[in-house]
Amino acid sequence: MDLSELGVWPGISGQVSLVTGASRGIGKAIAQGLGLQGSYVIGTATTSSGAENISKHLNDCCIEGQGMVLDVNDSQSVESLFSQLAQQEKTPTILVNNAGITRDNLLLRMKEEEWEEVLSTNLSSLYRVCKASLRGMIKNRGGRIINITSVVGLIGNPGQSNYAAAKAGMIGFGRSLAKEVASRNITVNSIAPGYIETDMTAEISESQKEALSVQIPSGRLGKDVDIAAAVIFLASDAGGYITGETLNINGGLA
Ligand SMILES: NC(=O)c1ccc[n+]([C@@H]2O[C@H](COP(=O)([O-])OP(=O)(O)OC[C@H]3O[C@@H](n4cnc5c(N)ncnc54)[C@H](OP(=O)(O)O)[C@@H]3O)[C@@H](O)[C@H]2O)c1
Repeated sequence: MDLSELGVWPGISGQVSLVTGASRGIGKAIAQGLGLQGSYVIGTATTSSGAENISKHLNDCCIEGQGMVLDVNDSQSVESLFSQLAQQEKTPTILVNNAGITRDNLLLRMKEEEWEEVLSTNLSSLYRVCKASLRGMIKNRGGRIINITSVVGLIGNPGQSNYAAAKAGMIGFGRSLAKEVASRNITVNSIAPGYIETDMTAEISESQKEALSVQIPSGRLGKDVDIAAAVIFLASDAGGYITGETLNINGGLA
């Protein structure tokens, strides 16, 4: 699928989209997809060189937007991003919490840092970034929050108790926030991808991928654009009455 062939989905053009972790993988495709729909895109990376690459990529795709530095683990970094955006009069009205990491280990061997880092980056980040975004969305009289969780948060996976706990937590967080802000015309939804071909799954060997594909009824791993297309749907007017929901995109795995 080519994101430029999706046609125009109403309600995205003219918005400001903030996509965390847009330097590569799923976030990069989401940023591109929301940009091609006509929104101004702020894509974040953890380094200034990563942010520069995002700006260049958006520019190459003729998308209005910029890369910016953000560490979702650091409240001051979140604060600094939002104050820079306020100075530029760019208020995010579409927020995609995509940044995420894995630190896999069996629980018996898992170090506290591995637990804390995954919970902070994948779950506590939502507290920080959603809270910082809400005031602008309320002022704008509407907004979209889309959180990228995982099939692992629903079905579990050995060696990923930290990741599964964080991803399941994101779903509960989203359901609650959805009820808090629905009257403000802000929707909050989760997308739970299955196995998608990105850096995160690059360590899976070809033979493991083949074994995985047998368990996936569609017979293949997913692509970043499979997730970006669903983000476009939820961010558009077509998704306006969907909130507190989790959309599973996993080729039938679960
Ligand atoms: N790939 C899959 O199979 C799969 C399946 C289910 C769910 N997901 C979820 O989808 C999301 C994207 O996954 P992906 O496979 O595209 O991952 P990826 O290729 O590893 O990219 C991760 C992104 O997150 C950013 N990031 C990492 N730590 C960060 C921090 N502390 N603050 C801000 N940004 C940070 C990275 O920025 P830098 O480049 O600067 O490091 C990068 O842009 C994640 O939430 C992941 O859990 C992925």
